[in-house]
Amino acid sequence: MQLQLATWQEVERYLQSSTGIILPIGSAEQHGPNGLVGTDAICPEFIGQRLGEAADAMVAPTISVGIAQHHLGFAGSMCLRPSTLIQLIRDYVVSLSRHGFGRFFFINGHGGNIATVYAAFAEIHSEVSMLTRDSKRPIRCKMANWWDSKGVRTLQKELYGDDEGEHATCSEVSVTQYAYPDHIKSANFEGRAPAYNGIHDADDYRTRYPDGRIGSLPSLSTPEAGKKFVEASVTDLTETYRAFLVAD
Ligand code: NI
Repeated sequence: MQLQLATWQEVERYLQSSTGIILPIGSAEQHGPNGLVGTDAICPEFIGQRLGEAADAMVAPTISVGIAQHHLGFAGSMCLRPSTLIQLIRDYVVSLSRHGFGRFFFINGHGGNIATVYAAFAEIHSEVSMLTRDSKRPIRCKMANWWDSKGVRTLQKELYGDDEGEHATCSEVSVTQYAYPDHIKSANFEGRAPAYNGIHDADDYRTRYPDGRIGSLPSLSTPEAGKKFVEASVTDLTETYRAFLVAD
């Protein structure tokens, strides 16, 4: 069930049987010549909605902009400062917890968000520890990267090997092609992009990785592969989410 497509009465009824909620979190940043700017938000949103169906879980509105300062050398990229994203995550969680949500399962689509999401969890726990003594409604937060599952990793190796790359990867572009078949882009690639050799600021990134890709060859991406990645991720994440709901 999607929060944005539910009435408040439906949300209230849901809370009688579960306190879990899925929160897709991504980024708005360049993804090379054939990747969509929204790739890192589209992937966890699409997978999160299917996970919601599989696990009978509520899905919150996607956090679509994240930590992406290093992509600002490319048109269309947007970013939040880490301090802004921490406050945004904190407000999502605390406002939802007022209604009784307690298990916050973030599905992340962007490696650059990881450190900041964990910092936000620390901020939330600090607030709970310092300001309240209410232990009857504990807040538990967990993050899972959609690509970081056994099934997805196996498929990446099987389908793309070294061409998978580190940014604008074959798998993430495939997932967006499956999610939005009317927006598949074609582009000419002269082979794989430079391998990862560090990331600093936006100008530096553009110099090191001129067309935006890192080590990938996403001309190999297909919507058919995207379907396989989505199914593998949903299968693995369903198990992780169910375990998280009942964990101590
Ligand atoms: Ni990405």
